[in-house]
Amino acid sequence: MPKILVTGALGQIGTELCAALRLIHGQEQVIASDIRILNDTPFAIRPYVQLDVLDKIALHALILKEKITEVYHLAATLSATGEKHPLKAWELNMQGLFNVLDIAKTDKLKIFWPSSIAVFGPTGNKAFSQQHSVTAPTTAYGISKVAGELWCKYYHEQYGVDVRSIRYPGLISHTAPPGGGTTDYAVDIFHQALKHRHYTCFLKPHTTLPMMYMPDAIRATLQLMSAPADKVKIRIGYNVHALSFSPEQLAQEIGKHLPSLKIYYKPDDRQVIADSWPTSVDDHHARQDWHWQHEFELDTMVADMLKNLKQLVQHI
Ligand code: NAD
Ligand code: SER
Repeated sequence: MPKILVTGALGQIGTELCAALRLIHGQEQVIASDIRILNDTPFAIRPYVQLDVLDKIALHALILKEKITEVYHLAATLSATGEKHPLKAWELNMQGLFNVLDIAKTDKLKIFWPSSIAVFGPTGNKAFSQQHSVTAPTTAYGISKVAGELWCKYYHEQYGVDVRSIRYPGLISHTAPPGGGTTDYAVDIFHQALKHRHYTCFLKPHTTLPMMYMPDAIRATLQLMSAPADKVKIRIGYNVHALSFSPEQLAQEIGKHLPSLKIYYKPDDRQVIADSWPTSVDDHHARQDWHWQHEFELDTMVADMLKNLKQLVQHI
């Protein structure tokens, strides 16, 4: 049975990934870790260890102490925050990954590391980015993901590290808030729609981006990690596709449930980032190699988000 460490576990993905991994492997088999200090750790998050992934000695000591065999390395700075602090984003995203890969090499660990649609840039195939389309991003975040993918492939080819990766699209979820990305509007809109019946979007109405509902993203992650090694033919990040929609289309779908919703637009710096990304990606390799298939469409995702969030929001 694997013993798993999740870094960045208190973030948008980690919160749900830890829960899913614990359902499969058992609560004690999955150690959640994050840089944040928790005074009172809720039961759902335990076992939890405060850990800075930039502290390689502490990371290695924890891996040895807990006899870790797999690491889901999620700690990172996302796109919008990365543009405010590019060198800090580079340091966390790259040095954190190097620390994990280097320990994986000596200790024979299996690694999951998430990449992003942010590997693509404005010179690529914007309408439908293929797996091997040009990756020439214009953001510090995107540069760190392209470099990270190549280093993962390098560690696999040179040292036999079993490292697997997915280029997640923008992720939509209702458990933990998103952490500073360009696609965060697609989560914020639900909260504001339920609370205030209006939302001011920081992207323009027709900005179409690849998106995915979190249950699909978690399923993709678990599916890739449980695939036989010889089926994982791509050792950079796999393209995975589910949805493509714009703020206007998302607002229209939410409006079917909340007809009084009003949406306003006030594009900011994040528009430039969004404009550099594709509107859709070709994921046939993931579908062929490890049978990836999304389940949630725009209408079923919106209905499920609202059902879950309504239980949390009082003013409805
Ligand atoms: P998030 O910002 O919600 O969570 C990141 C977590 O990392 C936070 O809890 C933060 O406290 C923690 N962290 C920051 N610095 C740390 C450090 N030095 N040591 C340990 N922990 C630290 O991010 P997320 O959305 O959960 O994303 C996780 C991964 O998935 C990232 O690599 C991100 O690039 C990738 N990804 C996310 C999305 C998305 O839409 N959420 C899309 C594509 C790729
Ligand atoms: N959702 C992420 C972001 O916007 C994409 O990697 O940064």
